Amino acid sequence: MLTKNHLIKIKKEGNEALKKIVSNKNDEKIILFVLENLGYLPKDFDDSWVVDLLKSNHKKIRLNAVKTLGKVKNEQHISKLLDIAKNDEVTEIRREAVSSIGRMRSKKAIPALIELLNDYDPKVVTQAIRALLVFKGNEEIDNALKKLIDHENEMIQMVINKEYFAKKYISKDKLKHPQSYDYLKNKVVLGDVRDILKLIPDESFHLTFTSPPYYNARDYSIYPSYKAYLKFLEEVFRLVFDKTKEGRFLIVNTSPVIVPRISRQYASKRYPIPFDIHHFLVEMGWEFIDDIIWVKPEASVKNRNAGFLQHRKPLAYKPNARTEYLMVYRKQTDKLIDWNIRQYDWKTVKESKVKDGYETSNVWNIDPKYDKVHSAVFPVELCKRVIEYYSFKNDLVFDPFAGSGTLGRTALMLGRHFFLTEKEPKYFEYMKSFLKQKPDEIFHTKPTEFLTLDEFKKTIQ
Ligand SMILES: C[S@@+](CC[C@H](N)C(=O)[O-])C[C@H]1O[C@@H](n2cnc3c(N)ncnc32)[C@H](O)[C@@H]1O
Repeated sequence: MLTKNHLIKIKKEGNEALKKIVSNKNDEKIILFVLENLGYLPKDFDDSWVVDLLKSNHKKIRLNAVKTLGKVKNEQHISKLLDIAKNDEVTEIRREAVSSIGRMRSKKAIPALIELLNDYDPKVVTQAIRALLVFKGNEEIDNALKKLIDHENEMIQMVINKEYFAKKYISKDKLKHPQSYDYLKNKVVLGDVRDILKLIPDESFHLTFTSPPYYNARDYSIYPSYKAYLKFLEEVFRLVFDKTKEGRFLIVNTSPVIVPRISRQYASKRYPIPFDIHHFLVEMGWEFIDDIIWVKPEASVKNRNAGFLQHRKPLAYKPNARTEYLMVYRKQTDKLIDWNIRQYDWKTVKESKVKDGYETSNVWNIDPKYDKVHSAVFPVELCKRVIEYYSFKNDLVFDPFAGSGTLGRTALMLGRHFFLTEKEPKYFEYMKSFLKQKPDEIFHTKPTEFLTLDEFKKTIQ
């Protein structure tokens, strides 16, 4: 049996020994093994046998032959690879062929790559773009690439926009990225979040985690219509967008809501809030990152199943809703997450590292929390995970719909600062009892202050 060590020896013996071992065209297993384990190629590598394999009926052999020719970087193979890139029946092989042409980094490959910009497969086009960008500044190439700004595919548009048309993101942040304004730290402000946010500078927050009021499901959330409700949330999240630092996160906890029927003649109505807010969040510049599902024990949720349990009639099935969404968004930027991380000193990064035992999947099993005063509070565990996974120590985290202030309390526990807004005086008062508790004082860099809108205005510098 051929082994990797054996293959290394054969390679050392030279081209003839290598050719001999792949000479039996019927022994596809050996050929594939050789191609997949060929590794580094000697300078005098004779690729003629690899070229023959481009016609193999075995897809994996064809794919690996294309890959190997990419390593050989022999310009004479450009036309053969172009033929494969255009005509092979297997998409993966077509893409690999473009990549192999690109790896040559040869000016002779430019016409072939420009031709491939017309391919129907966006991945083939993006591979060709990547290869052509090596020669950015060449007029012919720049002109060909700029035309793709009108391409149907959004990824292609994004690449071309970034390379040729993007206006540089001009940050309005007057502070260094990890810093935040002292007068916002550990503040709870009573009022409509929209009035409060209009008073504060852009790029103030590192993270927003919130659970918006549920449409007409609780007494604190009455809106004239669903449309008005969505418009309200749109306004809030647009403001949150402006007030969020470059490339930082917004996490929205929502679930579809049922508004009960008016009478027996009417059906109740279910409103798909997470799905209805998603599109305007994305449109205003929040980039969708992840959907996390918060799962509660079945015994803890409202039983909608009782009728069905008796009658078992199809169409009238009503599952018990055990899940809520945590939709994760990032403020659009052309910078990668690494850029955000690099803004912090190593000590902060080290101290903020997420400890062992973190949640590895997007299914979070967490018990709901019941509260005697507020009917829809976050469990501390939920806030803990969000804060630990999406912020650094000393960051400023924000909840526009603070309720009982769970996010603020948890932020303090984890060595972060918070800014909270809440419009209901009774919850504002309730928060006072929580946020002044002793154990949190270990991290109190600034004592918590509770302000009305007018009082807050006076503190603004
Ligand atoms: C679902 S609760 C949030 C509960 C919170 N996550 C907690 O852990 O206690 C939504 C809160 O948003 C508040 N709210 C609704 N509209 C608001 C507005 N325009 N400005 C500020 N707060 C608002 C409600 O009074 C309610 O307390």
